[in-house]
Amino acid sequence: MSNLTLEKLTNFCKDNGFIFSGSEIYGGLANTWDFGPVGVEIFENLKRAWWKTFVQQNDNTFGVDASIFMNSKVWEASGHVGSFNDPKVDCKSCKARHRADNLIEAHSKNTVDADALTYEQMDQYIKDKKVVCPKCGKADFTVTRKFSQMLNTTTGVTDENQNLIYLRPETAQGQFVNFLNVQRTMRAKVPFGIAQIGKAFRNEVTPGNFLFRTFEFTQMEHQLFCHSKDAMDFYELYKQRALNFLLSIGVKKENLRFKDHSKLSHYAKAACDIQYNFPMGWQELNGIHHRSAFDLTQHSQFSGKSLEYFDPFTNEKYIPTVIENSIGATRLFMAVVSDAYNQEKKENGEERIVLKIHPAIAPYKVAVLPLIKKNHGEKAKEVVGALNKNFMVATDEAGSIGKRYSRQDEIGTPFCLTIDEESLTKNTYTLRERDSMKQERLTLDQIILKVLKSTTL
Ligand code: GAP
Repeated sequence: MSNLTLEKLTNFCKDNGFIFSGSEIYGGLANTWDFGPVGVEIFENLKRAWWKTFVQQNDNTFGVDASIFMNSKVWEASGHVGSFNDPKVDCKSCKARHRADNLIEAHSKNTVDADALTYEQMDQYIKDKKVVCPKCGKADFTVTRKFSQMLNTTTGVTDENQNLIYLRPETAQGQFVNFLNVQRTMRAKVPFGIAQIGKAFRNEVTPGNFLFRTFEFTQMEHQLFCHSKDAMDFYELYKQRALNFLLSIGVKKENLRFKDHSKLSHYAKAACDIQYNFPMGWQELNGIHHRSAFDLTQHSQFSGKSLEYFDPFTNEKYIPTVIENSIGATRLFMAVVSDAYNQEKKENGEERIVLKIHPAIAPYKVAVLPLIKKNHGEKAKEVVGALNKNFMVATDEAGSIGKRYSRQDEIGTPFCLTIDEESLTKNTYTLRERDSMKQERLTLDQIILKVLKSTTL
């Protein structure tokens, strides 16, 4: 990670076409970010890798893409309307708004688990320890209050006839409300899974830390529907699968750890996070939750439609238990780029920045570099045409070959293909590998095979 600070990471992403500030030419809109041309490729590759692991290669799992807008009763049934709140305090002196749990965790250097405290206990801690406002340094807060994280909008053609609708705060409810549809149309037998990747929206009290906490983000969620007697085994299995997925896309083991939740929701039987060692410290990246039969039971009651499953082998009728595996794709992007960022010294003493990102996640797989544009430009076009049928290809014709290698190292391109005089007569090319910087001479077919092999998860 090379002592990567949050500021350095943000600037690196902005300078290299990974991420831009949202609505930048209008002065921006706080805590909104746009993926640039390089970033969007990494983002798409992450989503594809997750889908491959949790849908394509997962037994008995089906994908859905549900609407962001759902009947408001969904959010009453799920409990979000009543209790999806954060503990907020306001500084009476400078009016800055904070999350009480975050203030306590920062003050205690993470020795106090604020999640386990009641609002009254949080107030007591803040008062006893004379916790100060990080913005103005005064110790003068309001009491802790509930702050709803639900964002909403209205539909309706006239001003008098507006209906309140919520922007979904998680994708998971799209899986729950489609449980029967998927089970029936796919003739699915429990245990089976439903997965979805999509946008979610939350009114966060303290958005920030770059992409870490935003109002709008992408979630990747897998819900496994199973019998209650098997649920704990599946919970352990999905903890391992979630960790293995992160390792498989190249996230370093030493930057990942499990942390059990200290306070469980009233319906949950077990819950834990996989935390990542972000530039600002250890924070949640992925959640794994044993949700009991709460979700389908609630939706059965609120919709009046039975969501019971009939087991054709045992003749038993029951509401399945859910094991949830949930990760923010946007947060994963931040973890993966932090993890891959390297500043290192070459043998000749020069410094290079290299993004050692897994080749399957890298934005471009090969960069085609004609040594002299005038002589090798035409051949380069031909080569690009042959390669880009298979994967994303970058081209760069400007500057010395060394500078061009550096630019590709910085955005994580695993291979650079150089076209020279010999390429014109013998149809062979120099292929340079990003991490070892080793070079070899190969034909185009050999290159395609090598690149496909190393960029497939
Ligand atoms: N369905 C369960 C659920 O939504 P969660 O722990 O609230 O659980 C799951 O969210 C994941 O979504 C988190 O681990 C995190 O990666 C991501 N996430 C949650 N809130 C986020 C936010 N405001 N900005 C970016 N990512 C967020």
